[in-house]
Amino acid sequence: MAGAFGCSILRVEPIPLSRPWFGQDELARVREALEGRSAGDGPFCRRVERALAERLGAPRVLLTTSCTHALELALLALGVGPGQEVVCPSFTFVSTANAVLRVGARPVFADIEERTLGLDPAEVERRLSPRTAALIPVHYAGVAPDMERLLDLAGARGLFVVEDAAQALGASFGGRALGTLGDAGCFSFHETKNVACGEGGALALRDAAVGRRAEIIREKGTNRSAFLRGEVDKYTWVAEGSSYVLSDVLAAVLDAQLARFDEIHARRSAVASRYREALAGWAVRHGVRLFPDLPDRQTNDHIFALIFPDGTARDRCMAFLRARGIGATFHYVPLHSSPHGRSFAPDEALPATDRIASRLLRLPLFPLLTSAEVDRVVEAVLDSAS
Ligand SMILES: Cc1ncc(COP(=O)(O)O)c(C=O)c1O
Repeated sequence: MAGAFGCSILRVEPIPLSRPWFGQDELARVREALEGRSAGDGPFCRRVERALAERLGAPRVLLTTSCTHALELALLALGVGPGQEVVCPSFTFVSTANAVLRVGARPVFADIEERTLGLDPAEVERRLSPRTAALIPVHYAGVAPDMERLLDLAGARGLFVVEDAAQALGASFGGRALGTLGDAGCFSFHETKNVACGEGGALALRDAAVGRRAEIIREKGTNRSAFLRGEVDKYTWVAEGSSYVLSDVLAAVLDAQLARFDEIHARRSAVASRYREALAGWAVRHGVRLFPDLPDRQTNDHIFALIFPDGTARDRCMAFLRARGIGATFHYVPLHSSPHGRSFAPDEALPATDRIASRLLRLPLFPLLTSAEVDRVVEAVLDSAS
């Protein structure tokens, strides 16, 4: 590009944290939906629900407008509500706790294990009370916490387990897909996720009766889903409900994404492997942990993160990368220290959560990230602490 004085300015394109991969297949299917049925619970919706159920090994999957809504719908269908408590991490996205509040229950924050960045079973146990109705483990970066102990704990007390698997499609624990280990699993198809449709979600359920309740709540409290299956000759209002059903236009996008599932994951995995190899020596020298790094967990390369020995080193690296146009970012402002979290949980002490949240830095990771871009990110990380 020619500058004001005729000299050439080298423009370096910014590298975002993530970018969805949409193409001609998505456009063709969207057109098909628009020319056919665009409302929810249409042919694309049914097809994607069947494909997800098969992929996950789940008896029932319902597409929803978001993972936030899948979490809300799960709690409503399980009957969690006012006067009850739900134990969840503070190291998570706001939706985990919002869903609990939206059904009238109270989120109780428990600390995480630094190994998995997921709920610490001993910390969960400390937070249980006679009012506890459910646990919401979050599979951060597609890494399961100690699900064996969490499921044992829930089983012994008759608590529901609702998995926040927003980031976990394609990841597993002990050979079972994340999102199918508890009573309900909630997935996100937000544009930042491995499989995306802009905004969308899914709810995987194992109990048939809960599935029937959920499909009614999802359809404004009507039995429209049963009507569409030809089980009743007209549909009507049968319970209190809302609208959590995904438009077939967006389900059409998901249909195309799922057809490319293996390629999306192979590309993400290639990027993560390149980071891992190129940064291994640097990480050892600087006491930085490359996350995920657990050989006993099968993850989905949703996130690649650096966990620094202290917050100052993390902040310095983040500022350095951003100055070079690289969209590296932290995760998260812990919910217990956010303005709204403090309003109902003012005295929480969650040291592991605070330590991780102040030291973690995410690097760009998406299927279309080129080798040259990965090299630029690696070079910037190496330069940031040389
Ligand atoms: C852990 C977690 N839970 C819930 C959500 C909410 O997902 P959605 O945007 O589909 O509502 C997200 C989204 O980033 C997430 O990371």
